[in-house]
Amino acid sequence: MKRFQRLLITGAAGNLGRQLRQGLAPLAEIVRLTDHVEMAPAGVGEEVIECQLGDFDAVMAVVEGCDGIVHFGAASNERPWAEILDSSIKGGYNVYEAARRHNIKRIVYASSIHAVGYVRREDGADTDTPHRPDSLYGLSKCFVEDLAQLYFHKFGIESACLRINSCFEKPIDRRQLSTWISFRDLVQLTERCLVSERIGVTVVYGISDNREAFFSNHKIRHLGYKPLDSSENYRAEVESETQPGDPFDPAVEYVGGIFTRYGHPDEGEK
Ligand SMILES: NC(=O)c1ccc[n+]([C@@H]2O[C@H](COP(=O)([O-])OP(=O)(O)OC[C@H]3O[C@@H](n4cnc5c(N)ncnc54)[C@H](O)[C@@H]3O)[C@@H](O)[C@H]2O)c1
Repeated sequence: MKRFQRLLITGAAGNLGRQLRQGLAPLAEIVRLTDHVEMAPAGVGEEVIECQLGDFDAVMAVVEGCDGIVHFGAASNERPWAEILDSSIKGGYNVYEAARRHNIKRIVYASSIHAVGYVRREDGADTDTPHRPDSLYGLSKCFVEDLAQLYFHKFGIESACLRINSCFEKPIDRRQLSTWISFRDLVQLTERCLVSERIGVTVVYGISDNREAFFSNHKIRHLGYKPLDSSENYRAEVESETQPGDPFDPAVEYVGGIFTRYGHPDEGEK
């Protein structure tokens, strides 16, 4: 028997949602895919439903009948406040509240390195490092991580908050030699969070087995996450194409990188 009857993936049209659509299919009888933009048509064992995360009634309808949620839909970069508020903050609340009302007991949430972006590289951060957002984007991730805490302690919904670092096909700059996570490692991490017997509220960094890293995952051995990839395989290529940064540049000093240099998104250019 598969672990889930109907697993919901939000943000299913996105870069990572498309990876999860394929990668998580074996876990569920039906994967329900939702986004507010067009998605590839439903295949065997899939349902595709368009939905605005900021619309509570629409989220209630899309969550109904599911028994697990992988919540990746959000404004996925620094964006104007109105968009962060609607898509990420209200959207996050709507997903958790709809899960409570429909008795769903586990959510995997795509948080971000930017929830702790003003941590310095050398601080030795781990999964207990407090929030230090570097942007409105990062702040929205902190909000939903706290929502996950509230909904676990008060309502018994387990969550994994994946502080994804940089999930792309391959690392493209020197910072990403520390922050990269491959697509297949992200799928494995998400799967472990869905199938582990108990996760409570687990915060985990989404990183591959890189030689250099800003964060330690040593407290999350209960997930059994064993990354298969490493940025080291790309080091020679990245170093030949890029120059070392200035260690006193905020984008190098802080783990949030370039986000620490952005101004307020409602005041024009980043
Ligand atoms: N890619 C990374 O390296 C990375 C790093 C850290 C965190 N994350 C997080 O992972 C998630 C997925 O990232 P991605 O790289 O696939 O980004 P993406 O922008 O490709 O995907 C996000 C999806 O969410 C959807 N969405 C946005 N607002 C919505 C709304 N109001 N209603 C419904 N759908 C909405 C978008 O249409 C999009 O398809 C995001 O939450 C992002 O913040 C990604």
